[in-house]
Amino acid sequence: MADSRTIEAVGDALAKAKHVAVLTGAGVSAESGVPTFRDAQTGLWAKYDPMQLATPEAFQRDAQTAWDWYRWRRGLVTAVAPNAGHDAIAALAGSVPRFSLVTQNVDGLHQRAGSVDVIEFHGNLFEDKCAGCEVRLPAAPGEQGDPPPRCDLCGEVMTPGVVLFGEEIPASVLEQSQLAATGCDVFLVVGTSSWVYPAAGLADAARGFGATIVEVNTEQTPLSETADYVLRGPSGDIMPALLGVVQRLAKVTA
Ligand code: OAD
Repeated sequence: MADSRTIEAVGDALAKAKHVAVLTGAGVSAESGVPTFRDAQTGLWAKYDPMQLATPEAFQRDAQTAWDWYRWRRGLVTAVAPNAGHDAIAALAGSVPRFSLVTQNVDGLHQRAGSVDVIEFHGNLFEDKCAGCEVRLPAAPGEQGDPPPRCDLCGEVMTPGVVLFGEEIPASVLEQSQLAATGCDVFLVVGTSSWVYPAAGLADAARGFGATIVEVNTEQTPLSETADYVLRGPSGDIMPALLGVVQRLAKVTA
């Protein structure tokens, strides 16, 4: 677990920052019971082949199998609750002058914890999108085994509103994320393996514009070597600890 001196130093940097940006990944939701992608035992990509389930071709080839899997994930996420890490990130937003949250997660748990204006880098599990006419809608009701939803406008099979492998990040999402990364003083990278680009490149962009880079993760990642601070431990412990320092320092200066 990260030592208290490093927590204090990062909390101090956060308290002094004019703009804090946070990038989160699946690790933030792990303590809620949502599996990550790359954990060697429990990760989704250890059990399922993304090429068979999470590509446009998978939906063209066998939409039923792909939809059954995404509907299983919808059920799983609906049944869990945000954890202390999500809560602390939502509260941190109200404790600094300007705050941006970019998440690679599609589970909506940040919003359920009270975060607003969340930039959803990889989309949202609870939307449907049409590959044909690109319309996006709230998810149509449906369970595993139900036929895949079709677009009312053009008749194409819909996909969930997430970025599938091989699809591009929408330009507006990329732009908002880059603005957050390049405009912040502190860039916190929480619970992501930092393997997947372009999301992983946001830390480089933030560093290039002079931000202090902080990693919060239970494990070593490619970012660990270059981050200014590495806070090793679960986000459900570390994020509340950081929030505590920020709130204490705010009281001292008030
Ligand atoms: P990964 O599964 O690649 O990484 C999860 C990270 O969270 C790992 O580095 C873990 O060490 C860390 N972790 C696990 N539990 C944690 C905890 N309690 N507190 C802090 N850290 C913890 O997930 P992502 O980095 O989010 O994309 O994956 C990025 C993208 O790859 C996903 O958005 C998804 C996937 O393919 C798409 O589906 C497009």
